[in-house]
Amino acid sequence: MKLYFLRHGLAEDLADSDFARELTPRGRRRVAQSAQVMRQLNLRPQRIVSSPRLRARQTADIISAALDRPVALADEVNFGFDLDDISSLTQDLGSGAEIMFVGHNPDMSLVVSQLTGVSVSMKKGGLARVDVTDGEAAQGELVWLIAPKVFDALAGAGAPAAAEPASPTTPAQKLPATPHRLQSLIQHRWSPLGFDRERGIDKATLLSILEAGRWAASSSNLQPWRFIVAAKEDPAEFQKLLSVIKEGNQPWAQHAAVLMIAVARKYRQPGVVNRHAGYDLGQAIAQMVLQALDHDIYTHQMGGFYPDKARDAYQIPDDYEPYTAVAMAYRTTALEHLSDGHRQREAAQRQRHPLADLVFSGGWARPADFLP
Ligand SMILES: Cc1cc2nc3c(=O)[nH]c(=O)nc-3n(C[C@H](O)[C@H](O)[C@H](O)COP(=O)(O)O)c2cc1C
Repeated sequence: MKLYFLRHGLAEDLADSDFARELTPRGRRRVAQSAQVMRQLNLRPQRIVSSPRLRARQTADIISAALDRPVALADEVNFGFDLDDISSLTQDLGSGAEIMFVGHNPDMSLVVSQLTGVSVSMKKGGLARVDVTDGEAAQGELVWLIAPKVFDALAGAGAPAAAEPASPTTPAQKLPATPHRLQSLIQHRWSPLGFDRERGIDKATLLSILEAGRWAASSSNLQPWRFIVAAKEDPAEFQKLLSVIKEGNQPWAQHAAVLMIAVARKYRQPGVVNRHAGYDLGQAIAQMVLQALDHDIYTHQMGGFYPDKARDAYQIPDDYEPYTAVAMAYRTTALEHLSDGHRQREAAQRQRHPLADLVFSGGWARPADFLP
């Protein structure tokens, strides 16, 4: 069995907690470079098992994308990773299997040393391959150890990775800082301002996104949602829709590929209010947002638009309510066209309230006792 041990890439020093420390932009670039070398080396781990700490998960995600192998999070690979953990995480694998562990020092260096009898000190982003023979999981042969500098050279960089770009840096992704497992699209969704101005959304893709909204759940299956859509291929329609978006959002929203106004029918039947209309519309949009991301298209929802202007411009009937505007586009990290303030916002950490402020049991504001 081939075991790969990868220490996470360069990470920032500070964060709200050690769990939340992210890879630096340089760390991301170097891991992405290493991942290309791993591809060339034809590494085929059945799975990549990562520590749940954010810097390890981000490292594992980059490798996963390059090698097209799944990532599993396992607390065993967190601090305290040891030979028993390796045995338990490999017990279902056959003798020809490959598996990669992504974790932290000193444990990574320690397990490789203990397995092989060779004193090993792994740098951040370093990778070791250890082959173990059946039934001897506690003993293995160190086949190679690649230091990050060697990865740089193998990737053709020939020198340490380039200097950090000027601050603020635009993140490749803004993965949430969470120890809990999230489905990949949910994990990767966020609301960027940097839209690729060159790239439109083709018709089949747009239809797929709209179809995802159509299949949302709704109270009594009333499907109260309606969508007014303008693609930038039709400049007059696009400008018309842009003109109902508030001035604060226009500087970035104007670069979207598609703009949309999301509208809901307010009544179940004449005179009977549908109090779930907004809820149902939100579900439809949430499905569209994730479907869009499945096509690598990002969305940015906006409350900042003029509902009355929209009503006038599109003759929206009184029994319908325009709730939000939505911008969709492929993303770019080249943000020269945005203001400093917008660039800073793009680089800022994403924040959320803790679950304990949100999830109660037994009474209002009593955090549920199953919470960590
Ligand atoms: C109903 C709604 C209205 C929003 N309005 C705006 C807006 O007018 N302008 C804006 O820049 N972002 C807007 N947002 C985006 C939020 O600011 C964003 O979702 C939030 O900060 C969380 O960030 P994330 O989506 O990157 O996780 C809106 C989002 C929603 C769901």
